[in-house]
Order: sequence, then structure tokens, then C-alpha cells
Amino acid sequence: MFHTDQAAPRVDAGWPPRPILGIESSCDETAAAVIDRDGLVLSNVISSQTAVHAKFGGVVPELAARAHIGMIDTVVADALSQARLTKKDLGAIAVTRGPGLAGALLVGVNYAKAMSYGLGVPLVGVNHLEGHIASAWLADPAFPLPCIVLVVSGGHTHLYRRERGGSCALLGCTRDDAAGEAFDKGAQMLGLEFPGGPAIDRLARQGNREAIRFPRFHRRKSSLEFSFSGLKTSLLYKLRDMDAGERVRQTADLAAGYQEAIVQVLASKALAALAQEKLSALAVVGGVSANSRLRGLLHEWAERNRFRLAVPPMAYCTDNAAMIASAGRQVLMSDPGSIREFDIQPSLQVQPLPRPALREEITHS
Ligand code: KG4
Ligand code: ZN
Repeated sequence: MFHTDQAAPRVDAGWPPRPILGIESSCDETAAAVIDRDGLVLSNVISSQTAVHAKFGGVVPELAARAHIGMIDTVVADALSQARLTKKDLGAIAVTRGPGLAGALLVGVNYAKAMSYGLGVPLVGVNHLEGHIASAWLADPAFPLPCIVLVVSGGHTHLYRRERGGSCALLGCTRDDAAGEAFDKGAQMLGLEFPGGPAIDRLARQGNREAIRFPRFHRRKSSLEFSFSGLKTSLLYKLRDMDAGERVRQTADLAAGYQEAIVQVLASKALAALAQEKLSALAVVGGVSANSRLRGLLHEWAERNRFRLAVPPMAYCTDNAAMIASAGRQVLMSDPGSIREFDIQPSLQVQPLPRPALREEITHS
């Protein structure tokens, strides 16, 4: 069991009075979890749709929505029974309202609205990215604020500075593909199965990360912006220049070299953000934080450079509902009066800060 007590202000220490149910359906996982009023995770159930989408090489939105409809009732029932609770024990419900696939979000939000209406308990609409950020505190409730947060998922590669009160300032993000997308598209080129991140991660362990070098793309060395589309092109050219036999013989080295270029850029930008903001605490969250080489590199650098690191336990890296319940609990604790009617928001961001001008040139080393 993990605690979810993030260092946020408690306006009313009595809130939430009873356990919270979290529901997540923004992409291809139908998930439900229950946390108690102190933030302890009582259950965390995830039903993955990987098998539904695998033959298409990516998530098909219409199929995702239909699969959520088919699974949500069972997943919620499992989460309640694993927590040894019934619906009547719940004090609140938290559900992902965005960002994500519109049809998929609608399933979770409408289910949660009906349930909250039927039970007469408050409903909190949670930003999926806030959920990922909250996951950093699942294993380390005392992780300090302010800190740097790197969100690396299938749709996001964002660096934030998170303040004590919970607000975030965007320091940099990707100009094109997200890190997870770079893994997924690279895996597709290498002929690996979907989802590509775990497939590259597994294969890379059998390869030599120094054998085939891929460029590390930076938008100016000092910039905190990311770019992964050039890396993808570089893999395409390397594959084009190999014959079929070479490709088979070198797949593991290609996967290891490609992965290395992604994780080196992620880790070095995170380190640059720590230096720029003069902070010594880094949280790395989202599906790509499950990557074994990234986790290893970050731990090594944290020790060498003496900064405090929070990477969620594997169960909380990819999409899950414990993180949604946890983020919802923060809202209930800090500002219960802010809960109001909401609808899905497929393009929701953490904070709509203006993006820096697109003047820097991409350089690579
Ligand atoms: O956070 P997440 O589950 O969903 C989104 O919010 O997007 O992230 C999914 C992404 C996918 O692109 C997947 O390939 C990647 O996380 N991922 C990984 C690993 N596990 C999942 N990437 C690299 N290595 C992994 N072990
Ligand atoms: Zn996610």
C-alpha cells in the first residue's frame, strides 16, 4: 500500500470524510481505484485494451470508447470489492475530465456523474496530467515542493516547476512528438508490437546502446524545449541503408541506441531545469517513466548530482485511477468549494501559459 498525501495546504482537515473512488478512461485503460480519507490506496484496478488495438498498431478512438463501455462497471465493482467497500461507503468520486480521447472520456465522466448523482456524493473532474503529477507522491508522501516535474507520456513531454500551493509553471515542452510517441513510432519502424515503449525497453536490454549512435536533438543546449521528430527520421534512414539481414541482426542494437537518445535528452533537460530553477528535487511521471534505462539513469544522476528523485512505482507510471483519486483528494482537501459542474475537455492542459517564441534552431550533438 502507498500513501498519497502530497504536501498541499489543508483548508479543512476534515475533508474528504470518507473514501474516494477514482475513475480513469482517457485513452486505452479502463481503471478504477479507491483511496481512503488519508490517501492510502485501498485498491487499484486496471483493464488494459492493448489486445483490442494491437492489430491496428495504435489506439483506435471508437474501439476504445466501446471497450470502456463494456468494462467500466466491472472495473468499478472490482475496485470496490478489493477495497472491501460498497458504493454506500464512498464520500466522493474523482474522474478524468481531460486531456484524452473525447469518446473515451465521455464514458468515464458520464458513469461518474450518474454514480455521484445516485449516491449524493461530490464529483471532482480531474486533469489527467495533474493525476500523473500526483503519482509522484504515491510512494514518497514527503517529497518536497517546490520541485521540477517532468511529465513523459504518450501525448506529453512537459517540464514544470511545481510550487508549494500546487500551481505549475511550464518551463518547456516538446515541439513535435511526445517521448512516448517517439517510442511507439520507433517500435513500429523496427517491426515491434504495440505499445512500443515496453517493447523497445525489453529488446534494448539485449542490445548495445553504444553500437549505433543516434543524434540527441536539442533546441539550443540551454533550452528546455524537446524535439523527437528528427530522431525518428534518423532511424528511418538507418533502416533504409541496411539490408534485411542486417536489420534483423541489429534490431536490438538499434532499439538500445534509439532508446538511449530519448532517455539522455529527457534526463539532461530535467537536470538543466533543476539548475535553471536552483532546485534539488525532481519528479518524473507518466508512462515513459516506466522505462528501465530512464529509471536507472535518473537514479545514477540523482546520486551523483545530489538531487532528490521521485519516480512512481511501476503500477502508477502508466494510466491508472489511484493517481486520479489522489489528485481529486487534493482538490477536496484544499478547496472543496471549487467543485462545480464540468464537462469533458479533450485538450485540457495543466496551465495555459504562453509558449516561448519559436526562434531557437534545433541543434544536435
Ligand atoms: O501515461 P501513459 O500510460 O498514457 C498517456 O497518458 O499517454 O503513457 C503511455 C506511453 C506510451 O507511449 C508507451 O509506449 C509509453 O508510455 N511507455 C513506455 C514504457 N511503458 C510505457 N515507454 C518507454 N518504456 C517503457 N517501459
Ligand atoms: Zn497518461
